[in-house]
Amino acid sequence: MLMAHNKFHEPVLAAEIVALLVKTPGIYVDGTLGGGGHSRAILSALFDAGYSEGSLLIGIDQDDAALRQATGNLSEYEGLTVLVKGNFLGIGSIVKKVCSQKGLQPKVAGILLDLGVSSFQIDSAERGFSYLRPGPLDMRMDTDASLNAADIVNNYGEQELARLFYRYGEEPRSRSIARAIVLYRQKNGPVMGTEELAGIIRTNAHGGEKVIKTLSRVFQALRIEVNSELDVLRQALYDGIDSLDDHGRMAVISYHSLEDRIVKTVFAEKVRSDWGPKGVGLREPLHRGSVIAVTRKQVVAALQEIESNPRARSAKLRVIEKIPQGGHSEFR
Ligand SMILES: C[S@@+](CC[C@H](N)C(=O)[O-])C[C@H]1O[C@@H](n2cnc3c(N)ncnc32)[C@H](O)[C@@H]1O
Repeated sequence: MLMAHNKFHEPVLAAEIVALLVKTPGIYVDGTLGGGGHSRAILSALFDAGYSEGSLLIGIDQDDAALRQATGNLSEYEGLTVLVKGNFLGIGSIVKKVCSQKGLQPKVAGILLDLGVSSFQIDSAERGFSYLRPGPLDMRMDTDASLNAADIVNNYGEQELARLFYRYGEEPRSRSIARAIVLYRQKNGPVMGTEELAGIIRTNAHGGEKVIKTLSRVFQALRIEVNSELDVLRQALYDGIDSLDDHGRMAVISYHSLEDRIVKTVFAEKVRSDWGPKGVGLREPLHRGSVIAVTRKQVVAALQEIESNPRARSAKLRVIEKIPQGGHSEFR
């Protein structure tokens, strides 16, 4: 499958997503629509396989700019798509609402979550996601949301900031960065811009390559907090699995260890059957796993893709499949 180069956002592992997700006609949900790159690949695969009859793609994003871009990018598949502004936290209720409007059963054949922010969001200086671009300290994916990064940087206490940088950024110098921010605030007033915050971090981090890592980690921590990314992810995984039809699949691409740990843990929990205490010799488990792992290990991008799209370097894909009730839980 040839992918057109997309300046807005180049989709990662698109061929693998199509191969692992698109198996039958049905309802597909792209919970992180972005510019619609993955959705386009899924729709094109449905079309090529002769599955467009009986299929629908529901695209969800909380960012208006992403929805505008995707609407244009997917215009040729207009009859096959419903694009919704919303948080994938509510994936189950969004599916139910769209399906009831369309007179369809809310049973999903495939769900994709391609986590984090798009290249477009990072490259838009006015969104404040990047320490490389001068802009306001914003970082909201949903610009209607109330909490932004400036609120956190200027109102959290020293300990709260340190905890945040450590927990969501795994930043070893979390305490000294937090102290530097609080001292700076006391002396100069609120920190309003990405450059101003980056300046404080630069003067308080170790030199060289380590500064870049600290900048990335602190900005990542703020972004996760602003958008409640990790709490939302855990809930969405449970909700998404509940929405899957028999043999329906869920694919998740994560970009850092905190995300991947949640995906791995929730998937493992759903795969596992509970056979009770050892030695009891039950013929049936007390609780049967509800999914199987389609990917035993995380799938990573090939070198060729990483060379043409550096974002692919940190991508990790995991896929599970819903077991029909009364089916068996095992890896395959
Ligand atoms: C990595 S990009 C997805 C790019 C997309 N796969 C493509 O091919 O263009 C992630 C997108 O998901 C959106 N997003 C992240 N978390 C979300 C959430 N909890 N609910 C809805 N959208 C979310 C972001 O606004 C962003 O547009």
